[in-house]
Amino acid sequence: MGDIHGFKFIMDARSPLSLPRTVALVGLMGAGKSAIGKRLAMRLGLPFVDADDEIERAAGCSIAEIFEKYGEADFRAGERRVISRLLDEPPHVLSTGGGAYIDPETRSLMRAKAVTVWLRAGLDVLFDRVRKRGHRPLLRNGDPKDVLARLMTQRYPIYAEADIVVDSTAQPADRTTEQVIEALRTHLQAEKTPV
Ligand code: S3P
Repeated sequence: MGDIHGFKFIMDARSPLSLPRTVALVGLMGAGKSAIGKRLAMRLGLPFVDADDEIERAAGCSIAEIFEKYGEADFRAGERRVISRLLDEPPHVLSTGGGAYIDPETRSLMRAKAVTVWLRAGLDVLFDRVRKRGHRPLLRNGDPKDVLARLMTQRYPIYAEADIVVDSTAQPADRTTEQVIEALRTHLQAEKTPV
């Protein structure tokens, strides 16, 4: 509720949200970056870009093949180049692979040029979402649930540096998307407010 010259008014939560820069979604495999990202892009009227798809297009092969042929360090270098290029494009919704924000250089590029949103999910939600698909190379190194638990310990303190944190739960993706939009609205409003 706001108050201008004594007139009370209710803030319209549905007024259009205009984004000054790209929204980059970060979080572990299975956090819902693509599912939420596509919905978010639709709601904001912006293009949706999946960084992993762009890396595969640039490399001419799958991410699993890049890991197999060249190893993770080369994959990270390619990921850094591709994300750097995407961040110079007009505002869009960018879904990034789970390790992108963990790379210090990629992270600082994302922090400088995008609004970063961490989709934080618990282990059971993540595992439930990733277990049906076997295309992720990191989950082939041992028991996938153990790998996810280890990555949560290593990565969650780093994802926590994102501008915005939204919990990604088993609730419908449209609801989580709504929460991301509200969190973006609050964050962008706070950015504009002089201190
Ligand atoms: C990775 C996550 C994957 C992909 C690659 C490495 C990671 O993306 O970039 O397999 O390091 O967590 P998703 O998070 O989209 O599965």
